[in-house]
Amino acid sequence: MQSLDEFATAKLGELERSSLRRALVDTTRMPGLWVLRDGRQLLSFCCNDYLNLSHHPAVKEAAIAALRRYGVGAGASRFVSGNHPLLGELEARLARLKETDTACVFGSGYLANLGIIPALIGRGDLVLIDELAHACLWAGARLAHAEIVPFRHADVRHADALLTELRRHHRRVLIATDGVFSMDGDIAPLPSLAALAQRHDAWLMSDDAHGLGVVGGGRGSNFVAPSKADVPLQMGTLSKALGAYGGYLCASAAVVDLIRNRARTVIYSTGLPPAMVAAAIAALDIIERDPAYAALPLAKAKAFARLARLPEPVSPIVPVLLGEAEASLKASRFLEDEGFLVVAIRPPTVPMGTARLRLTFTAQHPDHEVERLAALVRTRILAHAPASAAEAQ
Ligand SMILES: Cc1ncc(COP(=O)(O)O)c(C=O)c1O
Repeated sequence: MQSLDEFATAKLGELERSSLRRALVDTTRMPGLWVLRDGRQLLSFCCNDYLNLSHHPAVKEAAIAALRRYGVGAGASRFVSGNHPLLGELEARLARLKETDTACVFGSGYLANLGIIPALIGRGDLVLIDELAHACLWAGARLAHAEIVPFRHADVRHADALLTELRRHHRRVLIATDGVFSMDGDIAPLPSLAALAQRHDAWLMSDDAHGLGVVGGGRGSNFVAPSKADVPLQMGTLSKALGAYGGYLCASAAVVDLIRNRARTVIYSTGLPPAMVAAAIAALDIIERDPAYAALPLAKAKAFARLARLPEPVSPIVPVLLGEAEASLKASRFLEDEGFLVVAIRPPTVPMGTARLRLTFTAQHPDHEVERLAALVRTRILAHAPASAAEAQ
């Protein structure tokens, strides 16, 4: 095993030298957005629990009741030990929110993308993918053994030019994009991509992990005004604004039926724990009942950006571009000293030279803390950042 350890040690050394080595830091979450780390209480601006539903009494109660009644784990795949009726209820609720025939729930958002794309696309087919799409969309596309061609970020004209050139060489074409981009917070031009897909007989898939619950009145990025986008494959996660865990695809009855028959991450993976399913249903109740609450994370992000003199965000994700990995780590450490947990995002999660702080805003962030953080980012971080970072903003 000596060569294995030598390999691992050498690789870790490479990561260390380029400030790209990661380490897990013990951190416990408390109600609200406070976390405990190294005995200190910090206010977190890096959690995707946008509506703070992971600690909502009704969501917790739903999970506890399901856990008492049905136990902890699901025991086996839905096709082996039977489909829990709560799953059907959750799928119907997701489909209603997303205005599709039906839905299919997965073990996680990552598993959803690994299952969906290879079930629809294969060798000889084409996946046209936004260059900044999430790692799991790329992973799903790679698993499908299709040809993968990236288009420039949110650039519909580039995607159009690529399709004009390539469409005739492929039987089936999937256009894959994030709805809300996880590291930049911008929203894909879904209505234009939908029209493009229609023109070229391609299938549009959006990963709305960061859209559900927080944009488009809580219904996600394809419902952002002024027009609703026709996206036949609406994938997302239960693990962010819903405060639970799991993933989903909302689509037509035929597509969902095919996915249930073909997606290996549904067939060969244990079903979601009933407590998670019950929690997600309770979270959807809150989002459907209270769109004003769902609007709060974006309002807080906008207030922050105004005070920090950053461009106005369109989602609760606000990037502060700093360029080099070391600069982003330094800024993150500085904010931690000031009582804020703000994660530094480095390559390969983002392209080289675009390391950043990534801030996520949630419904319950206290306004005075948002103001204090904005002042620190403006006067102590951005004021000292290189001009190139300010231009990239
Ligand atoms: C855009 C995007 N898609 C998918 C995922 C994966 O979702 P999950 O955490 O449920 O596996 C994430 C999250 O990490 C994400 O940001």
